[in-house]
Amino acid sequence: MSQIELKNLRKEFGSLVAVNNLNLTIEDGEFIVFVGPSGCGKTTTLRMIAGFEDPTSGDITIDGKVVNELEPRDRDLGMVFQSHALFPHKNVADNIAFGLRMKKVKQDEQARKVKEVSELVRITHLLGKMPGQCSGGESQRIALARTLVTEPSNFLLDEPLSSLDAKLRRELRAECDRLHDELQKTFIYVTHDQEEAMTLADRIVVMNQGKIVQMGSPLEIYGDPVSYFVADFFGNPAMNLVEGEFVSGDSGLQFKSPQFTIPLPSKYSQKQPGKGTLGIRPENVTIGATDAAASINREVELVEPLGKDTLLYFETGAERPFVAVIEGTQSVERHANVDVGFPDDAIFLFDETGARIR
Ligand SMILES: Nc1ncnc2c1ncn2[C@@H]1O[C@H](COP(=O)(O)OP(=O)(O)OP(=O)(O)O)[C@@H](O)[C@H]1O
Ligand SMILES: [Mg+2]
Repeated sequence: MSQIELKNLRKEFGSLVAVNNLNLTIEDGEFIVFVGPSGCGKTTTLRMIAGFEDPTSGDITIDGKVVNELEPRDRDLGMVFQSHALFPHKNVADNIAFGLRMKKVKQDEQARKVKEVSELVRITHLLGKMPGQCSGGESQRIALARTLVTEPSNFLLDEPLSSLDAKLRRELRAECDRLHDELQKTFIYVTHDQEEAMTLADRIVVMNQGKIVQMGSPLEIYGDPVSYFVADFFGNPAMNLVEGEFVSGDSGLQFKSPQFTIPLPSKYSQKQPGKGTLGIRPENVTIGATDAAASINREVELVEPLGKDTLLYFETGAERPFVAVIEGTQSVERHANVDVGFPDDAIFLFDETGARIR
């Protein structure tokens, strides 16, 4: 059993507030992913949990016990750092065994455990090599093995896959998932990759500027973002976000942008007019015959067949092109005029401050 709690956790570096009063309870065995843009305080939070950074204020508890004063090695945590420096003059096996030697584990026991974790992360063939002879992905696995071998109750992983190419990332991502399943330990994982967050997390914690802006399951975050920021961060291709104005029309509230005006679903009819943003995910836009109450006729500017899907780009006068995803390789011609539909339940509205209008 190992529950980790952050209570009003705060870290200041001089006048900079890196972590701004976080409150979070992480349950035993949970896979938690911290996600957010560069500089939002992810690493600092992890380093405080691990004990490498002292909080300015607030508490970290493990199983109800405040651990602020405990040394990192006494916290029963294993951390894989953002930059995973291996010892260059020790071979892979010795690198992995390092933590065990520190704990004065017997030689034969060390050898047995190194073999066991190497099998787990599939690097037994590398044990005799020097770190300099290993690729980025292999080094990443070695760093993971070095942490696994000490058998901590909780794992802290800071962008463990960030230095890898896309294919290897996906492979090791699946590996992390499998390890979590197999070990049933708590994983706290940091990334600024929304796709990694979506695929790995039981619960995502979205951070911005030192604060938690939303937490929830991947599908909650994707389907019910609390703000423009979260809506924009999750989803690929990103949500279409069109700046404009909410104005009163004959039959309720309308959304008006320089390039198009559409009626809004009746649930918004009592909302205040004013500036704001309309959002719709590319995968929810309909093309062609539609039941949607709101639709516009538009010229297709660009067609991008991806194999499984096809992306259609439209010009709307917004900063980014407006994108629709359609299944397969349906034949929509560039420059064709098509009906672009906005189904009621796919429409998101945000006010001028970026807060969601519900
Ligand atoms: N030791 C330090 N001294 C001063 N400022 C620091 C220190 N460590 C971090 N910071 C600042 O605190 C803020 C949060 O940094 P942190 O490393 O936690 O961000 P991050 O979310 O991990 O970003 P990234 O995705 O780039 O790794 C940043 O503005 C950073 O410049
Ligand atoms: Mg970081």
